[in-house]
Amino acid sequence: MKFFVDTADTAEIKELESTGLLDGVTTNPSLIAKSGRDFKEVIAEICAITQGDVSAEVAATDFDGMIKEAHVLRAIADNVVIKLPLTFDGLKACKQLTEEGTKTNVTLCFSANQALLAAKAGATYISPFIGRLDDLNIDGLELIREIRVIYDNYGFGTEILAASIRTANHVKDCALIGADVATVPPATLKGLVKHPLTDKGLDAFLADWAKTGQSVL
Ligand code: G3P
Repeated sequence: MKFFVDTADTAEIKELESTGLLDGVTTNPSLIAKSGRDFKEVIAEICAITQGDVSAEVAATDFDGMIKEAHVLRAIADNVVIKLPLTFDGLKACKQLTEEGTKTNVTLCFSANQALLAAKAGATYISPFIGRLDDLNIDGLELIREIRVIYDNYGFGTEILAASIRTANHVKDCALIGADVATVPPATLKGLVKHPLTDKGLDAFLADWAKTGQSVL
């Protein structure tokens, strides 16, 4: 499973990129607003940090507007992926951009039927939102399972990009189900390394090593 980081914070992206764990970045208008930075400038900076796919979302809601914005965003760097909302205009834009050879990420997916439409429109990625379904007492992971089955039934190449991930268990369950990508907030991604027995074991090893009075160097 590929890891994308869900943020527009370039310091966080740089740190994660240096670990070799990062396969790409996703942003959305809320994350851009949180960064307090110019949209195109921050996308350009992110694309210079990572060679992975970087999702930049259009703000227009009509087909013509989406295509115009997509052309501007796509020109920023070769690894820009155009993020489009799951609406009829978004699907039309997805089809056109796919035909032009531009990668797309169809976002705000909350049902398997929506995911089926996005695949038929040629989306590179579909972004089903797990956490926002869980917030409503609907099993977000069940949506990932359904999409995996449907895409496998018909051999769709669209990659399942599990989004709105809130917990370490979301990440593990997405990997078990077979999501192609998980886009994870930086704190959750960094938290995956933690285990109290790792910390306890390391403390014990270091204490015993100190008793030997030796040095490796
Ligand atoms: O980028 C889309 C998605 O990951 C947003 O997550 O936590 O705002 O539901 P969240």
